[in-house]
Amino acid sequence: MKASSICVAFGVAASASSLRLSPRIDEATEFTLTFAVPTIETANGTNRFMHKRQLATSDFQDVVRPNVDTLYSMSILDLTHHDLLVDVPVVNDRYWVFPFYDAYANNYVNLGSVHNSTAGKYLVRYTTDSKPGVELCTELVKQKKISSGECHGAEGIVTAPTPYGILLPRYAVKGTNGDLEKIHAFQDKSNIRRIPKHSRSRHEGHRQAPLTIPLLNSSISSDPATKIMQLTARITPNNPPRNISDLNRVNRMLERAGINFHEGTYEPPTGQNLTRAYAASLANMAKAAKQPANLVSLGHEWVQTSSQAQGDYGENYLMRQFIAYRGYLALTASEALYPSYSSDKGGRTMHLGPKEAYLFRFPSKPELAEFGFWSLTAYNAKQFLVENPLNRYALSDRSNLTYPDGERVYGGQQGEQKDGSFEILLQPADVEPPKNWTSNWLPAPRGGGDFSLTLRFYAPSEGLRGGEWAYPVVQKTAAMVG
Ligand SMILES: *[C@@H]1O[C@H](CO)[C@@H](O)[C@H](O)[C@H]1NC(C)=O
Ligand SMILES: *[C@@H]1O[C@H](CO)[C@@H](O)[C@H](O)[C@H]1NC(C)=O
Ligand SMILES: *[C@@H]1O[C@H](CO)[C@@H](O)[C@H](O)[C@H]1NC(C)=O
Ligand SMILES: *[C@@H]1O[C@H](CO)[C@@H](O)[C@H](O)[C@H]1NC(C)=O
Ligand SMILES: *[C@@H]1O[C@H](CO)[C@@H](O)[C@H](O)[C@H]1NC(C)=O
Ligand SMILES: *[C@@H]1O[C@H](CO)[C@@H](O)[C@H](O)[C@H]1NC(C)=O
Ligand SMILES: *[C@@H]1O[C@H](CO)[C@@H](O)[C@H](O)[C@H]1NC(C)=O
Repeated sequence: MKASSICVAFGVAASASSLRLSPRIDEATEFTLTFAVPTIETANGTNRFMHKRQLATSDFQDVVRPNVDTLYSMSILDLTHHDLLVDVPVVNDRYWVFPFYDAYANNYVNLGSVHNSTAGKYLVRYTTDSKPGVELCTELVKQKKISSGECHGAEGIVTAPTPYGILLPRYAVKGTNGDLEKIHAFQDKSNIRRIPKHSRSRHEGHRQAPLTIPLLNSSISSDPATKIMQLTARITPNNPPRNISDLNRVNRMLERAGINFHEGTYEPPTGQNLTRAYAASLANMAKAAKQPANLVSLGHEWVQTSSQAQGDYGENYLMRQFIAYRGYLALTASEALYPSYSSDKGGRTMHLGPKEAYLFRFPSKPELAEFGFWSLTAYNAKQFLVENPLNRYALSDRSNLTYPDGERVYGGQQGEQKDGSFEILLQPADVEPPKNWTSNWLPAPRGGGDFSLTLRFYAPSEGLRGGEWAYPVVQKTAAMVG
């Protein structure tokens, strides 16, 4: 998702006693710009689904680095004045996930095939009485924590850490186009209904302002840094940070940077240079993404964000910011891995001359858990899908990949049994390879140039997290021509 327009940020009014040490303005401003970046697109209609019905193509430029593996639905959740009942449809033939994100873009709950979740209703609420997460109603009733009436016939209760949040269900696409209709049917069975707040959470949230378009949209600056500061001021007072032990520090920094919690406004303090602080925050973010603590080396120059810095970030605000720009609303590592090939240790941009190609030699099929899948997708310099004559944006376990002897890697005669080494050819879209390469050709930008790749593993096996599975050897060669 594009990490731009609307920013959701955090904190609550600080008490005067929390302002013991006064941080430097530049330091506080840089912190605020980092802290505040996870953004949502719009609040146009909260608590209802917008269904994405078609897969992305190279014409699609609403969000950066879209995948062509899943269809999604999206809802901005506002739990300030209601609890919600969400219908989770029965999906038993593919990977699916209902990921819940808090206002910080932390992926705090996943219902889905990886967790073997039961279809049915789930009650979603905001309260600080219970830990964020999901609990089954049968268990809660058995433990007498709740009466069965309070469950509203739901399978489980999802407790959100912040009143604002996002729900972004995804369903795997299984190859052929007719399959999209099956997914549309799942989407049509998913629903969100508002219900009165649960008795125990009734006293919470009501002080917070509902998430509305004017809250996010009125008199917003077109300068990106100023806009982040304004949105922080509007949204912070409504979304207390989840980790209360970091509350004082966060509030101190935000106040020092000019966030007025009581008015919900941004008032630049004397001596603040927002331009400089913004540049510094972006530079720091890029540096953090290359640090050993945030990066796992997978061998053969493949790297991956470490699992504690993906999806649910704790206090790793720099990585939260980095992922917001790179792949907003990333899932936690138990759902998906997103390794990158990087010849410069985390740079993640690749380059081809007009007559050059990259060869990816997979030693074997990646091992996945039940309903898992993988794909390799190419993006142009603007992080959109690469335009090409085949309209092929990714190669995957659902493509017609072939072994060097011509036999199909997936879905062939001997089907899934045969395993061995196969190759993917990354070559400019205007340089057609020999026939026997066509099905293994992933087109790179016409004429060569800068581009990047994402390898995706959904429902990954342990072996893919570093260690067991040998990642593909990547080699630059002359383009293959017939
Ligand atoms: C807001 O939502 C309505 C109803 O779904 C839709 O018709 C309209 O185009 C949306 N506006 C924007 C700016 O997204
Ligand atoms: C998934 O849930 C079903 C029904 O509740 C159960 O029979 C099955 O054993 C579960 N599988 C796993 C892997 O937990
Ligand atoms: C918010 O304002 C911008 C610029 O004025 C406009 O383009 C956009 O459609 C607005 N968004 C909504 C959801 O109304
Ligand atoms: C703010 O910082 C930028 C970049 O460092 C610099 O070019 C600019 O002159 C500074 N502005 C002021 C008012 O000091
Ligand atoms: C909460 O904050 C404290 C203090 O900053 C920190 O030590 C702790 O690890 C944090 N917990 C989580 C879950 O982020
Ligand atoms: C794979 O090949 C079959 C014919 O052998 C064709 O029907 C199908 O569309 C191909 N699939 C893809 C994803 O190219
Ligand atoms: C295509 O044929 C060449 C020459 O026989 C062989 O080296 C190469 O591995 C083949 N490529 C694929 C993808 O089968």
